[in-house]
Amino acid sequence: MKILVMNGPNLNLLGEREPSVYGDHSLAAINERLKECAEKNGAEIDFFQSNHEGSIVDKIQEAYGKVDGIVINPGAYTHYSYAIYDALLAVSVPAIEVHLSNINRRESFRRISVTAPACVAQIVCHGFLGYMEAIDLLAGGGPLA
Ligand code: DQA
Repeated sequence: MKILVMNGPNLNLLGEREPSVYGDHSLAAINERLKECAEKNGAEIDFFQSNHEGSIVDKIQEAYGKVDGIVINPGAYTHYSYAIYDALLAVSVPAIEVHLSNINRRESFRRISVTAPACVAQIVCHGFLGYMEAIDLLAGGGPLA
């Protein structure tokens, strides 16, 4: 089982960016925890972050046939990227969308996710634990198996 964890724009600034909203862990520190979580599940894990929509689309396309599950936080692209939505549908790799914050209780534009309908599940408002839950779901069987 190979899992790809993808993060979109501005998530490279985790730890410094609005810590009251997104927490005070850096992306590197979160990824360390995710590595342990993947090991526990006997899964291989790879990480990708980009501030650019096309690079995210390219990486999703590369995952076709090579990756068994995608954990994706598309950042602000969540709310308007039909290109990422189409890429997720095109590769048909099971994907779980994760948001650190509660997108349903913030600005109204954040309530819409155009990418979630291409995913098998969405986890919101659990901070970085949401990424771990997504890995457990993809690798550990349970409701998605
Ligand atoms: C986010 C929520 C998005 O609305 C925002 O643009 C982000 C982070 C989250 O993890 O809560 O960059 O995806």
